[in-house]
Amino acid sequence: MAEWIRIKDAAQHAGKSVTLKGWLYNRTDKGKLKFLQVRDGSGVIQTVLSKKDVPDEVWEAAEKLTQESSVEVTGNLRADPRAPGGHELSVTDLVVVNYAQDGYPIQLKEHGVGFLMEHRHLWIRTPRQAAILRIRATIIKSIRDWLDNNGFTLVDNPIITPAAVEGTTTLFEVDYFGESAFLSQSGQLYNEANIFALGPVYCFGPTFRAEKSKTRRHLTEFWMVEPEIPFCTLEDLMEIEEKFVSYIVERVIDKHREDLIHLVERDISSLEKVAPPFPRISYEDAALKLREMYNAESDLAKRELLFLEEGDDFGAPHETALSKLYEKPLFVYHYPTAVKAFYMETVEGAPHLSRSVDLLAPEGYGEVVGGGQRATSVELLEQRLDEHGLHHDPYQWYLDLRRYGSVPHSGFGLGVERTVAWICGLPHVRETGAFPRMLEKIYP
Ligand code: 4AD
Repeated sequence: MAEWIRIKDAAQHAGKSVTLKGWLYNRTDKGKLKFLQVRDGSGVIQTVLSKKDVPDEVWEAAEKLTQESSVEVTGNLRADPRAPGGHELSVTDLVVVNYAQDGYPIQLKEHGVGFLMEHRHLWIRTPRQAAILRIRATIIKSIRDWLDNNGFTLVDNPIITPAAVEGTTTLFEVDYFGESAFLSQSGQLYNEANIFALGPVYCFGPTFRAEKSKTRRHLTEFWMVEPEIPFCTLEDLMEIEEKFVSYIVERVIDKHREDLIHLVERDISSLEKVAPPFPRISYEDAALKLREMYNAESDLAKRELLFLEEGDDFGAPHETALSKLYEKPLFVYHYPTAVKAFYMETVEGAPHLSRSVDLLAPEGYGEVVGGGQRATSVELLEQRLDEHGLHHDPYQWYLDLRRYGSVPHSGFGLGVERTVAWICGLPHVRETGAFPRMLEKIYP
């Protein structure tokens, strides 16, 4: 009996008789030949059915095959450089597991995004979408591998929490037995406790933000990996981040060159430049550059987007403009204290600036990582809580961390979806996960 193989492993079985199990993606009929494109979740392959090589009932079954019918196809696997994917199967037998109903909603023609999102449960079957999901899985594995191999311990932090981490405007509130609680915006504060028990740690899971605007970078539920490191300054943190991000990109290129080039249609030349060291620029120097760009811009609409008030946080257009100036990811550090979260350490001698750092991906993708050095003074933290309108009570445990053995420490959060969007070259985060959650979008 022929061995059942996955399409991705075709190269190792060239010249043999094998069975593939999957679904009919597309077909072309040419007289006594049928070209059936079969996909199995690991790739797509062209299979060729010749009337003279198969029993009549197999030919008849193939005649009736509809798009997305499930099949088991057996045949001889040949290397063929002209075939998409480099291999072709000459069919000797075909078993139909299920004839898909006529009228599969996703046709090979272009559909609008709204329609595709309504049919996300089917859209994910298309080879490009499946390739993106495979790449996402590799990104997640690379994240874990790098951290596990570099002395970090994984800790799972709670999803139901009593306090805000990243501001109160994006909290999802839940009723916790009559008390108000929130879905986690970030596991960072708990990680700051975990480092005193374990040394470098990371948490990795879904995080939630009630983002009320529709943008191409914001989801309401996204996955974030958050490493936290004791005895670590902002400068040390940047070195860790650049090694970590470079490793992830390198692993994806290594494993998914074919997916990236042929299915996702990503020009990988810019990804191949991602290696330490990454350029670094202070917020103040970046703001100067943006003002220069603003003054030099003759197109009024574009100029308006680059407008920046003194001390403003950078918006997406600013990040896009800045990141386009560099070939590699760019660190922007020392943002104004006023635009960052309450827990940031301040710059010595310049308390209006924070020891924060964002990493902006090149080609205009913008922020993929946010982090910084954490404040160690109880007094400063209490003052910041007041400035942010946060009650002290839910943070007493957090202040204890500064009372008992406080050390300089730093950490960051990398958003998986934005990283997938950048690495795959996607203009919007909605295609970076199987079932994305966005403003007013919860079906399917
Ligand atoms: O910059 P952020 O808000 O930082 C934190 O949450 C820190 N507590 C992390 C830390 O230091 N431990 O978010 C970090 C990253 C962003 O750079 C972005 O990649 C992603 O999380 N992110 C989002 N991704 C998709 N949709 C959203 N609404 C996101 N908000 C943040």
